Amino acid sequence: MKIVVVGGGYVGLVSGICFSELGHDVTLVEIDPAKVRAIREGKPPIYEAGLAELLQKHANKNLHVSQGYESVSSSEIVFIAVGTPSQPDGSANLSYIEAASISVGKSLKNNPSYCVVVVKSTVPPGTTDKIVKPAVIIASGKTEKEIGFAMNPEFLREGRAVEDFLHPDRIVIGSSDSRSGNRIGQVYQGLTAPIIRTGITSAEMIKYASNAFLATKISFSNEIGNICKNLGIDVYEVMKGVGLDTRIGPLFLNAGAGFGGSCFPKDVSALISLAKENGENPILLRSVLEVNDQQPCRMIRILERKIGTVKGKRIAVLGLAFKDNTDDIRDSRAILVIRELLQKGARVVAYDPLAIPHMREIFPDIEYFGSVAGALRGANGCLVMTEWPEFSKIDKEFDLMAEEVIVEGRRVLSRKGVEGICW
Ligand SMILES: NC(=O)c1ccc[n+]([C@@H]2O[C@H](COP(=O)([O-])OP(=O)(O)OC[C@H]3O[C@@H](n4cnc5c(N)ncnc54)[C@H](O)[C@@H]3O)[C@@H](O)[C@H]2O)c1
Repeated sequence: MKIVVVGGGYVGLVSGICFSELGHDVTLVEIDPAKVRAIREGKPPIYEAGLAELLQKHANKNLHVSQGYESVSSSEIVFIAVGTPSQPDGSANLSYIEAASISVGKSLKNNPSYCVVVVKSTVPPGTTDKIVKPAVIIASGKTEKEIGFAMNPEFLREGRAVEDFLHPDRIVIGSSDSRSGNRIGQVYQGLTAPIIRTGITSAEMIKYASNAFLATKISFSNEIGNICKNLGIDVYEVMKGVGLDTRIGPLFLNAGAGFGGSCFPKDVSALISLAKENGENPILLRSVLEVNDQQPCRMIRILERKIGTVKGKRIAVLGLAFKDNTDDIRDSRAILVIRELLQKGARVVAYDPLAIPHMREIFPDIEYFGSVAGALRGANGCLVMTEWPEFSKIDKEFDLMAEEVIVEGRRVLSRKGVEGICW
């Protein structure tokens, strides 16, 4: 099938590459010329396990990349996978979605065949019908008989994106007519996941409700963890016992420094905003974010209890990515911690296996090291912010610290004497 994917970021790039792995003829449309260059050369601009190998396998064969939208005029399906970042009031910024829809519509003018426009970005319910559809119809001058519309949310996890995309738990296809929904079903032929067919707004809401529920599980576990710590109870033992209940499930119950990333904080905020616009007061969702915002700074309280003021002290932050196996730092809990440490006058030094270049853009003046040992040498305290598997092996490097005071926000270390955020 001839597919265009608009947006070559985390979701668009992974989707496009995986669609070519499924045998389709794919063109990625990306406005950032640096990303276009990198993809064309077979070098993914982001890190994801297995992505570089698949890109090299398909680049310039059945995967092409372009800054322009010409390929839309001969495509059978166009996926829109551009960003939907938070606005200052927490609502979703839909300007990229609208701009992409207009560009798609203009190029559909020259497409002689039936084509389906599918929203893959996470968008508030109603966006496909109220923004995408009219923008495409007006710009193309065509009717809804000639263009189909659908919504196909993406559930991949960064750090495991290729694996998730090719082995999803479910595929949700929201469409208002069976013709467009069936065509999306054909794109995923070869995958074994169950396909859920819904209306467009339900598909949009399934994505928000899923992310809000996962975020709630994390904040719930963190709150239980905070209580357990005061009582001297091991929250990991507790959550193991809780998670074995099949009604609850074992995942997303790891207490720690809270969730970051490009999805959970922004999607919960957008859902809160949507609820408020509709006269609701989403008490639970607001609390989920409140717990999450307070959680990382509890690590600094623990550090100060142990070493006194952090002013003038050398504090090593291990882990900058919002989770392991990615270089993405969007809404990483490390950002909040570094910001507060700097405000308090600490000398922050940092290490991460992949995310240093991105963090340098936010904090150009802190010192970065290419090894754990470099960051720990002479430090008066250490905060562990990301669950990188390699951190579980850190041991003798801690001997290099001036004072061995270690607080972990993710349960990864095996060293004796380490204090956990909620254990
Ligand atoms: N990152 C995730 O883990 C994840 C998972 C599921 C869903 N989502 C959702 O998918 C969407 C995309 O997220 P992302 O993380 O891939 O964002 P991203 O910022 O990494 O990528 C978006 C890309 O779109 C490009 N772009 C913007 N406007 C464009 C246009 N008019 N034409 C062509 N390209 C354009 C940008 O240059 C950028 O490369 C968001 O709605 C997000 O909530 C993300």
